[in-house]
Amino acid sequence: MALVEVDHLVKSYAGRSSRAPKRVVDDVSFRIERGQTLGVVGESGSGKSTVARLLLRLIEPDSGAIRLDGHDLRAASNHELRRLRRRMQIVFQDPYAALNPRMRVEEIVGEPLAIYREGAQSSGNNLREARRAQILETLATVGLDASALARYPHEFSGGQRQRINLARALILRPELVVLDEPVSALDVSVSAQIMHLLRELQRELHLTYLFITHSMPLVRYMADEILVMHRGRVVEQGGWRLICEHPQSEYTQALLAATPELPTSTQPVL
Ligand SMILES: Nc1ncnc2c1ncn2[C@@H]1O[C@H](COP(=O)(O)OP(=O)(O)O)[C@@H](O)[C@H]1O
Ligand SMILES: [Mg+2]
Repeated sequence: MALVEVDHLVKSYAGRSSRAPKRVVDDVSFRIERGQTLGVVGESGSGKSTVARLLLRLIEPDSGAIRLDGHDLRAASNHELRRLRRRMQIVFQDPYAALNPRMRVEEIVGEPLAIYREGAQSSGNNLREARRAQILETLATVGLDASALARYPHEFSGGQRQRINLARALILRPELVVLDEPVSALDVSVSAQIMHLLRELQRELHLTYLFITHSMPLVRYMADEILVMHRGRVVEQGGWRLICEHPQSEYTQALLAATPELPTSTQPVL
């Protein structure tokens, strides 16, 4: 069974004044196997982030089914949903906006532990020590050390802030991580480092990714399967080699053509 199964997802928003509701996600279906990456690619406004938010059930679809490890997310009770939600996390595009400027890194990265009352059977100093150890271990996996703990987000560069966001997403040891344009706000060399880190983390932690981007080279570097979206609809989906080397739709061909240098290997051109 695939970790993620999405069938015939539909989401519309009310149009302006007299216009009919606009379908921003229109009959989208996909599977993601454990340990694999599904890349969702399309230009701005094509419905990618809406798919991500529907998948995490941050917003409600009009219709369609979403299952995580066979569990129907739409039918889940609040209690079940809470348990399912900790198995999936999201990292957003803007590493600046996502971090509370008044919280120290230790609080930011440790917050999910507090929310899910991880280790709450111990108390006082023991609890603090146990949580700090877990925070340090998670920071190490994203390449940050203990000197980060007492610092605030503004003291870090964009790439380091995205590492902090990743640590926060990973601390509960999720199975699925949704990456919504995670390097779009970063400059080229930093973006390459974060892409490399994402692949390493996937291998080490056996993560399953939904990777969203508007860049063909990035999706080619990261994804096993690719889904191309245009105006809320899936225009093409399949293995990365098929989509990148033998695109069937004109839209995918245009996306590829808009990419200045298409890599000939699986190495990213960033
Ligand atoms: N809450 C909302 N209300 C109305 N329209 C929305 C809302 N969220 C997204 N949209 C519209 O849905 C379309 C798809 O948006 P989005 O999923 O953010 O696209 P992408 O992530 O591919 O850029 C856009 O036209 C956007 O304006
Ligand atoms: Mg988006």
